[in-house]
Formats: sequence, structure tokens, C-alpha cells
Amino acid sequence: MLILGGTAEAKALAEQLAARGDVTVITSLAGRTAQPMLPPGEVRIGGFGGAAGLTAYIRETGVTRIIDATHPFARRISENAIQAAAETGIALEHVVRPGWVSQRGDQWREVSSLDEAARALPAGAIVFLALGRQYLDAFAARSDCRFVIRMVDAPAEPLPFADPVLILGKPSADPAREAELFAAQGITHLVCRNSGGASGYGKIAAAREMGLTVIILGR
Ligand SMILES: NC(=O)c1ccc[n+]([C@@H]2O[C@H](COP(=O)([O-])OP(=O)(O)OC[C@H]3O[C@@H](n4cnc5c(N)ncnc54)[C@H](OP(=O)(O)O)[C@@H]3O)[C@@H](O)[C@H]2O)c1
Repeated sequence: MLILGGTAEAKALAEQLAARGDVTVITSLAGRTAQPMLPPGEVRIGGFGGAAGLTAYIRETGVTRIIDATHPFARRISENAIQAAAETGIALEHVVRPGWVSQRGDQWREVSSLDEAARALPAGAIVFLALGRQYLDAFAARSDCRFVIRMVDAPAEPLPFADPVLILGKPSADPAREAELFAAQGITHLVCRNSGGASGYGKIAAAREMGLTVIILGR
């Protein structure tokens, strides 16, 4: 059984399946973070080389079933899994984490692209970008805003901003910790994706409590 992972759900699934003892569980990680949380069972790290590479991997290893438990915004690997499963004729399940739903008190502006998110920021905004490195370029032209960026690992290349504040670490599920961070940085706007899940929800609840505008990218 091949679990396409990189999420808390994928790790929980590997733990559940490994505990059964009657299946071989291989979790695949993209290798984006330097110190990933390793699930039980076999773990392989790195891209397969597109749908063709994943197809070849399935044939070589004799995988009989794939569970795609990747992040809801990781679209390429999910598309590759669909193609590889069709090519090899093996079963594919997709575990999709539900998105967050806005609640009373939320000040959400829902957008459908990163460019739209960048345009939605008013001049002078102090913006918390809760986005991975590959999502930042759309904001580079907004030199009239100040950006505070949180990442798990330090970026290999310089960030595309004149004077960014870089915070290394993972999001907190605790709204009080996120609120403390937003207050310390004078944040006026939060930009994030509608990833869903408990571990990233702290920032959404904190923004609600503080009355911050959340520019949120839909699925
Ligand atoms: N996007 C996020 O914000 C986010 C957040 C938390 C965790 N993650 C995890 O980080 C990984 C990468 O995210 P992404 O947004 O860059 O994905 P993506 O755009 O869908 O994938 C880009 C490429 O990375 C490789 N890849 C992705 N997931 C893989 C996996 N589980 N095992 C092996 N190769 C994988 C594939 O390379 P090849 O074509 O060479 O096979 C894929 O074509 C995902 O596994 C996801 O679950 C992502």
C-alpha cells in the first residue's frame, strides 16, 4: 500500500495501517522539509519523476493500492496519482481534508488566485503570509506593503521582498500563540490558503478574535 503523504492525516493513516500487521505500508514524502515527522512502515523521500515515474515505481515495487493523503493544495502529485493508477489499473483512494468554513466574526475575503490575493491588499498593510515559498512571487510587486513570512525551513534563495520579516517554524493550533505573534508584528492582514485541518486553524481563530482581514485562497 503506497500512501502519498506529507500531512498529519497521512501519518495517522500509516500508523493505523501499520498496526494491522497484514499490509506493507510505504509512505512517500516529497522531501520539502529538512526534518519530516516519519511515520511507521517504509518511507521513501523525493519526487517520482512525474506520472510516468510513479507508474514505473508502482510496477517495480508491486504496489497494489495507492492512498493519496497529500495536502489539498498539492495538485500535481494528485493528478499524477490519478494517471498512474489508471495506467496500472490499481485502486486509488483520495483522502481530502475538508476546508474551513467562515464563522460569525470572521472577516474573510475569499479569492481564487494568488494574483487576486495580492491585489486585494491595501497600501500600507502589514501582511502575514502563511504560504510556502512557491506561493510568494505574486506578492513581490507590492512594495507598498510589509510582509511577515512564516516558513518551516529557511529558504534556499533570497525572498522576493525588499525587507521581509522571516519567522521560521510551524503554525500553531493555539489561537493565543498566533495572536501573540500577530500583535508583536503589528499584523493588519493575513493571507493563507483554505487548507483545512486543526493544526493550521489557530491563525484563523486568532484573526477572528483580533478583527483582522483574512485573504483566503479557495480550493
Ligand atoms: N502545498 C502545501 O502547502 C503543503 C503543505 C503541507 C504539506 N505538503 C506536502 O508537501 C508535498 C509537496 O507539496 P506541493 O504542493 O509541492 O505538491 P505538488 O505541487 O502537487 O507536487 C510537486 C511535485 O512534488 C513531488 N511530490 C509531491 N508530493 C509528493 C509525495 N508525497 N511523494 C513524492 N513526491 C511528491 C512530485 O514530483 P514528481 O513529479 O517528480 O513525482 C510532484 O510532481 C506534498 O506531498 C504535500 O502533501 C504540502
